[in-house]
Amino acid sequence: MRFTENFIQEVVDRTDIEELIGRYTELKRSGSNLMGRCPFHSEKTPSFSVSPTKKMFFCFGCHAGGSAITFVQKAENLDFPDAVEYLATRAGIPLPKESEAAVPNAGPSRRRVMEMNLEAAKYFRSCLFDPQIGAAGMRYFHEERGLSIATVKHFGLGFAPDGFGGLTNHMRRLGYTEDELIAACLCGRSQKTGRAYDYFRNRVMFPIIDPAGNIVAFGGRVLDDSKPKYLNSSDTAAFKKSKHLFALNFAKNGCAEKMILCEGYMDVIALHAAGFEYAVATLGTAITADHARVFSKYTKKVIISYDSDEAGQNAANKAMRMLGEVGIDVRVLKLNGAKDPDEFIRKFGADRFRQTLEQSRTGFDHKAEQVYARYDLSIGADKIKASNEICTLIASYWSAVEREVYLAQASARLELPLAVLKNSVEQLRGKQARAYAAKQSRDAVATVKNFGDRINPDAAKDPRAASAEETVIGLLLLMDEHREAVAKGSVALSEEDFVTPFNRRVFAAVMRLHEQRGSVPYELLGMEFSPDEIGRIERAEVMRRQLSQNGADVFGSAVETLKDAKKKEALQTGNLSDRLAYLREKNAKLHKGKAEKHED
Ligand code: CTP
Ligand code: MN
Repeated sequence: MRFTENFIQEVVDRTDIEELIGRYTELKRSGSNLMGRCPFHSEKTPSFSVSPTKKMFFCFGCHAGGSAITFVQKAENLDFPDAVEYLATRAGIPLPKESEAAVPNAGPSRRRVMEMNLEAAKYFRSCLFDPQIGAAGMRYFHEERGLSIATVKHFGLGFAPDGFGGLTNHMRRLGYTEDELIAACLCGRSQKTGRAYDYFRNRVMFPIIDPAGNIVAFGGRVLDDSKPKYLNSSDTAAFKKSKHLFALNFAKNGCAEKMILCEGYMDVIALHAAGFEYAVATLGTAITADHARVFSKYTKKVIISYDSDEAGQNAANKAMRMLGEVGIDVRVLKLNGAKDPDEFIRKFGADRFRQTLEQSRTGFDHKAEQVYARYDLSIGADKIKASNEICTLIASYWSAVEREVYLAQASARLELPLAVLKNSVEQLRGKQARAYAAKQSRDAVATVKNFGDRINPDAAKDPRAASAEETVIGLLLLMDEHREAVAKGSVALSEEDFVTPFNRRVFAAVMRLHEQRGSVPYELLGMEFSPDEIGRIERAEVMRRQLSQNGADVFGSAVETLKDAKKKEALQTGNLSDRLAYLREKNAKLHKGKAEKHED
């Protein structure tokens, strides 16, 4: 961590949380709190509260919550150190010097890598615009790919000249060491000499810029058909390819309604140049759950516009699923007559693309089309196969309304009576439900109860223990006296008493902060927990605060309930040493009881 705890607290203390959040949503006074509509989920009635005294926020609808830092992390999609930096700058607090904060031997910090990237981007750009050096690159962008100079400048494109030392020497002159350049993935290390050499050579360069405007990585493309076509930075202190999206820095401004997801850098650039500035791409990887979460922060709807080949369509199916899981309305674009959006726009123009965009299909339509495409519906046997597949697809939807809509569509398309299809869908659903019920074990039932708990996935295995844990944690956060009781040992509670790893981590962090500072500031919890986790932790406290009984007796019995649940779990999961411990304890109690009897 590059900031000290004291620095982080100073930043939070000097941030006016009311003014900060007030810029995202209108806040109205309500008692000692402020209420407004939640900026993190869509709602008509306000359930989002801000407490200026506690310097915290909490949404009773979506359970987002935390400190001003958590808010900035979520609202601006920044990681913890960046959010601290953002607030420090805003409050006019000078940032600690790199040298003071840098951890020895840990390699260059995130900020240092971004600094290097910025210098490298300037270098690549000056090479591109230097006719002696960058003529081939400029010709490629301008003539072969049809980009205007304005577009080249807008995206900060560049050119890495052929040769092993151009960038390396330039950066060394600026004071960066070879080790730093290698760690930033701007240089490779020679096997023979151990020296650094330019990683990107004879390639046109695409800087990857995060939403805060930092250059976090590069992609580089060859000018011909040599391999590999694209070379991308590996993950560094500043870059995680499973999380970043190309051109999100531009797209974030106009994407609340919809975004376009494509496969390639050039697709995104062509789309932006044609006026679709809400297009982004993943960076040489398939879409991940992290990407899906990023999308869900920025937009309601994603239109997937992948390549029209089979690989592209398979990738689209995966993206549909990942994005659907985070609640995004997903559409799929089918481009006819072109392999990708870039080629489509060059061939048919922006207006045709806009029309196609309006005809983008829902996930169901897209999958149904894939079925229809495989069969000739004028042949009886084919029609039966197709209708079976379509009915199976429809039966997989949980919503009765959705099934109704798709049935009507299928009936028209297959020219079969709706009642017949409906009957077959209901039968399939019955079958699915029976098969489903049959393989439910105790664990599976619990999994469904806590379905979709990404923050504490282990809660599903033992809901009773997890809920006891939350009560205990809520009480610990709410009252210093409970933490003191645990610290002094008057209430026996330790990490081992927790069943789920998440709550065990929370307990450890809470007690550590209590020991070190006598309080548990959420902004310091934020150093080790993600914004979503912080929301979950705050929820535990808020739930307790709403109840009137929170005294020592309540705490004591909550701890007992937890220990009880833990024992039951140990017995059920059949961990031998836990089981033996339990039996030993039981035995000891028994003997103790006997001994006491003898005494009187
Ligand atoms: N990609 C990659 N490494 C490769 C090939 C592709 O990282 N060796 C990534 C790049 O991000 C690229 C995307 O996958 O933009 C899509 O690849 P592809 O369809 O092959 O490239 P296009 O974007 O169509 O590239 P171009 O139009 O420049 O040929
Ligand atoms: Mn292409």
